[in-house]
Amino acid sequence: MLDEANKWLGIEGAVPCPLWQRGNAFLGGKNVGSAMHQDKIMWSNVGKNHLGYKLFIMWPLESSLEVMDLCSEDILAPPFTEHHIAILRKACKVVVVGPGDVYVFSGAGPHMAMGLGSGLSLAAYEAVLNFHPENLQMFLKSNTQLHHYDCRSSNNDVYDWMEDIIYNLASLHHRCCDSQAALPRGTETLNCISATLEEMCSSDDDFLDELEAVLKKQKTRKKKNFSTAYLQLLEQCVARSSRGSSKRAKTVHSKRDPISISCAQPHSPGEVAGIVDQM
Ligand SMILES: [Fe+2]
Repeated sequence: MLDEANKWLGIEGAVPCPLWQRGNAFLGGKNVGSAMHQDKIMWSNVGKNHLGYKLFIMWPLESSLEVMDLCSEDILAPPFTEHHIAILRKACKVVVVGPGDVYVFSGAGPHMAMGLGSGLSLAAYEAVLNFHPENLQMFLKSNTQLHHYDCRSSNNDVYDWMEDIIYNLASLHHRCCDSQAALPRGTETLNCISATLEEMCSSDDDFLDELEAVLKKQKTRKKKNFSTAYLQLLEQCVARSSRGSSKRAKTVHSKRDPISISCAQPHSPGEVAGIVDQM
């Protein structure tokens, strides 16, 4: 699908958004599918159902811990128990896709999929993080308290995805600035790249750490990957982030600790204990 999207957008040699990851295909029969889970990273999925029929059920992000604690790795298929029916009533979206249907959904909240009918069903999907600020903020919630412990990535994986974002945006930035092959919406795309980097730098210390580490590598490496313009943009983002300001939110990404706290102001140990008691 990435190839198709790039063809449609007139882009070659770059990912058209912060992340676009090659995905998987699912082939199965009736009541066979992907059990209840949240994606390992809080991104979106775009895919196509090629054959047969498939049921998708999604639950709100806010109910992640409750739903996942009750039904993690379950496939809710008939005959339903009362317990399953109570969980199904909390779903926010129930969709049946047929042959040729294309779908996009957030993998952040709990979701499951399974084949319907007597024949086989075949569906494929790829993971995407687009430029919308709400999706960027959602990505930064990976490995935090809204992300069930069983579904989290390792912290190193989260840092690797952050690094991929910085490199993907570098390629897209280069592609937009390349006057030999200007993009039809190059100026808008450049604005999206700047806004994305600012949004993430101003919201998350870990992303800022990763960006500074990438900048350091670019400066010390003999063969530089980034253009001067992109390096300047990264340096501006670091400068504007007011590193060390108490007003900037600190998101705690935690694979080990199932309770993480996101707060705009530093708290004393007593205040933190009070917050944990309320969770
Ligand atoms: Fe998923």
